[in-house]
Amino acid sequence: MSLPATPKTPFGGDYNPEQWPKEVWEEDYRLFDAAHIDTVTVGVFTWAQLQPSLDVYDFSVLDRIVEQAAAQGRRVCLATGTGAHPAWLARAHPEVTRTDFEGRKHRYGQRHNSCPSSPVFRRLSVALAGRIAQRYARHPAVIAWHVGNEYGGACYCELCAEGFRSWLRAKYQTLDGLNTAWNTVFWSHTFSSWSEIEPPSALTEHWRGPDHTAFQGITLDYLRFMSDAMLANFRDEKAAIRRYSRDTPVTTNFMGMYRPIDYHRWAEHLDFASWDNYPPEDAHPAWMALAHDVMRGIKGGQPFWLMEQTPSVTACRDVNPLKRPGVMALWSWQAVAHGADAVLFFQMRASRGASEKYHGAVIGHAGRSDTRVFREVAALGEQLEQLGDAALGARTPARVAVLFDWDSWWALELSDGPSRLVRYQQVVLAYYRALWEAGVDVDVVPVTADLSGYDVVVAPALHMVKGDLAERLEAVAQRGGSVLASYLSGRVDEDDNAFLMDVPGPLGPLMGIRIDEWDARAADVVNPVRLGTGEQQQVASGRLVFELVIPQGAEPVGTYQADFYAGTPAVTRNAFGAGHGWYVATDLDQVGVDWVVRRVLAEAGVAGRHADAPLLETAVRVAPDGTRLLFLLNHGVERIEVVAESAGTDLLGGGRVERGQRVGLEPYGVRVLRTDG
Ligand code: GLA
Ligand code: ZN
Repeated sequence: MSLPATPKTPFGGDYNPEQWPKEVWEEDYRLFDAAHIDTVTVGVFTWAQLQPSLDVYDFSVLDRIVEQAAAQGRRVCLATGTGAHPAWLARAHPEVTRTDFEGRKHRYGQRHNSCPSSPVFRRLSVALAGRIAQRYARHPAVIAWHVGNEYGGACYCELCAEGFRSWLRAKYQTLDGLNTAWNTVFWSHTFSSWSEIEPPSALTEHWRGPDHTAFQGITLDYLRFMSDAMLANFRDEKAAIRRYSRDTPVTTNFMGMYRPIDYHRWAEHLDFASWDNYPPEDAHPAWMALAHDVMRGIKGGQPFWLMEQTPSVTACRDVNPLKRPGVMALWSWQAVAHGADAVLFFQMRASRGASEKYHGAVIGHAGRSDTRVFREVAALGEQLEQLGDAALGARTPARVAVLFDWDSWWALELSDGPSRLVRYQQVVLAYYRALWEAGVDVDVVPVTADLSGYDVVVAPALHMVKGDLAERLEAVAQRGGSVLASYLSGRVDEDDNAFLMDVPGPLGPLMGIRIDEWDARAADVVNPVRLGTGEQQQVASGRLVFELVIPQGAEPVGTYQADFYAGTPAVTRNAFGAGHGWYVATDLDQVGVDWVVRRVLAEAGVAGRHADAPLLETAVRVAPDGTRLLFLLNHGVERIEVVAESAGTDLLGGGRVERGQRVGLEPYGVRVLRTDG
């Protein structure tokens, strides 16, 4: 099963009419009409209303909400309401609230506050999901199920400790296996009974917060366990839904590059992926593109839903800037360009009180439709109507893959040494951004993905190398492709134990190098790196970590310029099979990463689109019927003009574009071309 069947790209978002008197609901639909809103997500935080006490269920309000949506011709993404548990539940069963990293047992409050291992929570959340499914499964307006909300965080209670022990028994079978994997002979940690094992927290293995642990192996397994424990909650609810609803797709809203949950471990259990896009302030547009591509990679390139984004402002930050005119539409189109088959907002009408009263909404407190935000939403709604079904199911024809791996992310950032300054997302982003600026389509894939269709595979900070990954990377080069890896790759196995061989471990033969030593320096220490020779030459900066490379067949492409290792390689290229292994041994600045990436692309014969216009984003999607859509997105505040590389029809403006013709894009402007042939 894949995405919900819809006649066009769904447009709308979270709608909480239960927070409003009935008269307002009528007005909402008048405004939804005006904004071309066809899809609403309802019931996300309704547990207390649907189940006011243990034995009482009351669906009267949700019935009216769903009925009205259906009567008004809208499609409904129906939530199971379990993102926050009711106060009575926490009072009757204190086990449902979480214990935090510091060991503090929480009382009732906030949301996303349920212990994933609590039998009471599991039983009652499943009961609620089942009843909702039973009641609405046959409702023709319901096109998707939305389980829980933004699964995340962690719990360290006794129930979770027990759950962790069972999870470990299933994984290791014997204590010997566990002791070996965790290298417990270090610091006299050998466990002689499963019951001795504690969750790694501030009270046990951690010494300065969640990233500073004495035993990386234990913490890594706890992260995996927590991710699985929440996945079990999702799967429980999904199973309850499936008892009544066989064909309606099920999802939960992810958070893009969210460290605590390994979404790849979840992938096979979702019918389709969906996510909430709230980029960090001042995020480069490539950051969002990367997050979209990570989300598309979850389900092997299948399109996803943009489940939430703010139309205007967030409320949860210390300072909450407004999206400039045009930005909301630009970012929405960016999502579509990267594989979104729905554009949804949080939220339709602003909450009156509590923490999100200042969070942006399509309809504000005054209920006006003559606001800028409403007008921009309505204009986007009209454009998506013009797009119709053209993008639905369309795939990205990428020849370049970037590996993204939660285990490597965790292992790298939990590591004591070489440097706490290296952040996984930043390393991935630097390489992704270089590809983005070069104008190539990229798949961001898990390390288990089939790599046989790619000409270039980029492995930024691939700290952990698991299973047969090294052989599959070698196979890419063997048949003529290029593999580009960065510093701190190939260091540890899946238990986070160092490989007992030269660095970069199993990547050594492909890279044709050996690393015996590495230097880590403060953020402001720069070692210049001279890249290339002759006209191609470029001097870039290396920072943070400097691996000392001893070529074992690889040729130097760039060299350090300072310190006792001046003149030794910082970037190398190794002929392997019919292709190449490239290695970058330091944290090169963007100029340096761009230089290397463009060389790799050029040698691999992968041509980018409009590579000379850095703020022009391009993306291609190919629909199931072969229709090819080319998206052009101007992220800059200046008008851009480019020469069209293909002829086509402008799906939003309606006009023709001929090959070679100059095409203008206003600041934040967007074009969607259906290209000929
Ligand atoms: C998240 C949640 C929503 C809402 C928005 C506000 O994404 O899923 O319920 O809180 O944030 O930004
Ligand atoms: Zn718990």
